[in-house]
Amino acid sequence: MTDTPRRIMIAGNWKCYKTAAEAVQFIQAFRAYPLAEKAVDVALAPTFPALDAAVRAAEGSPIRVAAQNVFWEPDGAFTGEVSVAMLKAVGVGMVILGHSERRQYFGETDETVNRRLRAALAGGLEPIFCVGESLAEREASRTLDVIRTQIEGGLAGVDESSADRTILAYEPVWAIGTGRTATPEIAQEVHGFIRSELAKKYNKSLANRIRILYGGSVKPDNAAALMAQPDIDGALVGGASLKADVFWGIVNA
Ligand code: PGA
Repeated sequence: MTDTPRRIMIAGNWKCYKTAAEAVQFIQAFRAYPLAEKAVDVALAPTFPALDAAVRAAEGSPIRVAAQNVFWEPDGAFTGEVSVAMLKAVGVGMVILGHSERRQYFGETDETVNRRLRAALAGGLEPIFCVGESLAEREASRTLDVIRTQIEGGLAGVDESSADRTILAYEPVWAIGTGRTATPEIAQEVHGFIRSELAKKYNKSLANRIRILYGGSVKPDNAAALMAQPDIDGALVGGASLKADVFWGIVNA
């Protein structure tokens, strides 16, 4: 059986940047580029208050809108959290989960990421599930162990058909916002490892279908070399996704 080739996805993670008005301005400018001519899926992840406006600004374009997190309960007394149904109600179809900044600064663990991921999948959101090692972990030669643990924990109880709707992102913490990109070879090594872990946990065919994005200081001038690696299926872009022309430079690469 031959698997269809994986389509490249370029996703912009806007983190805690851009008001709703600024998000709309970006999307209007970005829509002027010949997106439909590219065999690339494009997603943007604004802050919660900008999601509704972003979805409307993206309507009729190939741009998909993602949230940066989601809570696992449908509702209740959970100050500061946002549910799957709330995201879907404004037309959001995707969500970033387990980003290292959530893990580092806001106490997310493999377990909370797993609960969020399962709720997102059960509710029909397409998750971008992030994993990645810190600099200390890499220097202690623990990278692959850390990635394995994050995958096992994050995907615990996620069945095959749900896993099939999950996008993974490998984001080495030492490469995020530092200007220090992983070389294509370093990234490929981990991407290949992630795919082999998915083949072990599920099966080879599923592992071959799942997209694995790379994240960490992706720029227009390093994107092509990263995307050329056999197991790198796109990028999760922070800093370089904030300006329409720079982000287009990555999509176009
Ligand atoms: P960066 O961020 O591109 O600014 O390094 C990537 C990310 O955190 O998703």
